[in-house]
Amino acid sequence: MDTAFEIETRAVFDRYQRLQEDDEHIFSRLVSLIDEEYFGFDPGGFDGLNILDAGCGSNANASYAFLEKGAAKVTSLELGGDWMDCAARRLSKFGARSSLVGGSVLNLPFDDNSFDFVHCAGVLPHTADPRKGFDELARVTRAGGHLFLTIMGTGNGVLYRCINHLRELYASDAQFRQTVDNLDGRTAQEALDWVFTIKNGHERPLLHGEEDFLRSLFDDDLFVTLRDRFQAPTYHEFAFTEQQMRDWYRENGFDGVRRVSRYTKGFKNLRRFLAPMYLHYDHPLAVFWFGDGCIQMIAVKASESL
Ligand SMILES: C[S@@+](CC[C@H](N)C(=O)[O-])C[C@H]1O[C@@H](n2cnc3c(N)ncnc32)[C@H](O)[C@@H]1O
Repeated sequence: MDTAFEIETRAVFDRYQRLQEDDEHIFSRLVSLIDEEYFGFDPGGFDGLNILDAGCGSNANASYAFLEKGAAKVTSLELGGDWMDCAARRLSKFGARSSLVGGSVLNLPFDDNSFDFVHCAGVLPHTADPRKGFDELARVTRAGGHLFLTIMGTGNGVLYRCINHLRELYASDAQFRQTVDNLDGRTAQEALDWVFTIKNGHERPLLHGEEDFLRSLFDDDLFVTLRDRFQAPTYHEFAFTEQQMRDWYRENGFDGVRRVSRYTKGFKNLRRFLAPMYLHYDHPLAVFWFGDGCIQMIAVKASESL
């Protein structure tokens, strides 16, 4: 890692990805999100593939899923090397089929046309030069291979506008920053204890199970995701569009560009009510909240781009 910016980015993510690896429910929820259907592959579609998981995170959950579902070899790449102990806890059982590499998507340490499938989820918005990263990912995808990408889009969704505003507040307001940094499932439950103590001193609960339901909305899984929205040094202001991604693929010689989506199963917190909008990202309600949303795209590298 050469820049202070990359070191800070890595430190923010390492903290919460280690928590995710440590928690069996969160780790298995993340692993369950990766399957053949999501990418439009036939059952068994990962069998025998040589896969790159670029910006795999300290817990390398997608790498784990690819290996469990039949990939021949998965190379997991992250900035620096301090994450490898964490990833290895889950991946070492796959032996030589798993390889951990320190490096940057902005300068991938691989030959052209090296991988059958390149997977890069949520990484480019955190880099200094997302377009350069995309070109690097395209370079190492073999002709006839797939490049999959997740990037946070805009489109003026209300939620992303709020997050952009709150990110500014996080940077400028020490009190807000401290509150966010201390936010986890436990502090949320303590806050609710206080609310219910005062409220129940003045009136009886109105609905059966009202307290339990409210408590269920806020857990560690929610806050480890939320905190990165504020703490990561850059998110490029959630400024990407679907059309821009289609252009990047085309300019790198890719065909059959498809936007994909999925129902994000397994949330126990309030995100279970957002899951329908993650799946149907073009529904008016989803567009209102998320604009262009979480853009997930896949395409095939044409043979003539060799
Ligand atoms: C939102 S996390 C996504 C992690 C993982 N792909 C997942 O889907 O769970 C973004 C990751 O990108 C990594 N990252 C940021 N800049 C990078 C770069 N230049 N090269 C490689 N990884 C990078 C961060 O360290 C972080 O782990």
